[in-house]
Amino acid sequence: MQHVMSPAPFRWLGRASSKEDMEDDLSDEAMGARHIEDQMRISFDDLAFIRRVGHGGFSTTYLAELNVDRNETRKLASPECKQLVAVKVASWEADSLGQWRSEVYALTKLEHRNIVRYFGFVATPPMHCLVLEYCDGGDLCERLKHPIPPGFVLKVAGGIASALAYLHERRLMHRDIKSANVLLESDGITPKLTDFGVATVLPDQTIAPHGHNSRHLTAETGTYRWMAPEVITHQPYSASADIYSFSMVLYELITHHAPFNDRSALQAAAAAGLENKRPPLPASTPKPLSELLDRTWAAERLDRPPATQLVIVFEEMKHSLPPDEIAWLDAPDGHPCDAPTLPLPQPKRKLEAPANDSANAPETASQGILGAGALAQCLEHVPARFSEALSRCFMKAV
Ligand SMILES: Nc1ncnc2c1ncn2[C@@H]1O[C@H](COP(=O)(O)OP(=O)(O)OP(=O)(O)O)[C@@H](O)[C@H]1O
Ligand SMILES: [Mg+2]
Repeated sequence: MQHVMSPAPFRWLGRASSKEDMEDDLSDEAMGARHIEDQMRISFDDLAFIRRVGHGGFSTTYLAELNVDRNETRKLASPECKQLVAVKVASWEADSLGQWRSEVYALTKLEHRNIVRYFGFVATPPMHCLVLEYCDGGDLCERLKHPIPPGFVLKVAGGIASALAYLHERRLMHRDIKSANVLLESDGITPKLTDFGVATVLPDQTIAPHGHNSRHLTAETGTYRWMAPEVITHQPYSASADIYSFSMVLYELITHHAPFNDRSALQAAAAAGLENKRPPLPASTPKPLSELLDRTWAAERLDRPPATQLVIVFEEMKHSLPPDEIAWLDAPDGHPCDAPTLPLPQPKRKLEAPANDSANAPETASQGILGAGALAQCLEHVPARFSEALSRCFMKAV
């Protein structure tokens, strides 16, 4: 995950950094979690590696055979009972270990048909692995390079929305929704959300996905092309930032290419965060879909619909869209679009600038194509807090 800045602020035994964290780590909940985690421990010797299936910024994933029955927690005598699994091996950097811990913690609590199933973990330093359900349909990013079957867009979009609704109801936020983090089952059409390495627990005040935060979650967490403007520009954010990232995945499902694919990651972040731009939609996009995208990528985060509503919308679309619009969605190669990227209309509420910058805060973000030189010019005209964020984007993106 090339653009993640810092490990998720999950509380985790052995990772407590403050008195408050340590107290929390000794809570009943944490002790209960440790118990569950110990039950989920898998020995490295019980895994037979077959081949590499994927690679991310913080891990490499392999197809393997697991030789343990999780329910019995004992080795099986019969080789027929071996199970194919995916083993995500954390790389050895400190950040990867933090993400591994966060992911173990999150997955221990999750069970949903559209979330990758968790079998357990391996912790044999320096080797740390997650043992997951193997999804032999691969990831959505790769899948969209090939023709899709009928019904794919609505089924995949509805499934991801359902996983998000489940997470948000539990005050969890994924924070790295993108096509590479959506896997497909062997039926090729059932999506499974994965990669919970930067997921976080939302503060109490944000139980509703549209609530306000009392605590400022770590900015610039996720992957720039899919990242909500408020996350890029270091504003408070909540579960609705996942909804924005979801809109980028919906865009991929329609066009079969990444959002802002004519720009670098930094330029994409600047376009969405500073210029209020969104990737261009094909002129032929059916109205219900373009309206839905307008809502899910709204600049004002409180205007985005909650995931529960999206689940209903996709279910209804299956029955209510006219045949020509269904046929449009079912186009095997999608609708690639190279129209120019346009800014959204002026948001109802302006971006909040920090108090000491408010006098100089521009009403709209700077215009123009950003690049190494243009960025510096652009940064002169934006509040210090935004420019700091974008400078850091620039440092990381080149
Ligand atoms: N359970 C699985 N079944 C099949 N393929 C998988 C599985 N888990 C991961 N992969 C493959 O490995 C890739 C990377 O996995 P994942 O996103 O979990 O790793 P990461 O290091 O956290 O990646 P990132 O760069 O997004 O941080 C996925 O995009 C997918 O192609
Ligand atoms: Mg990933």
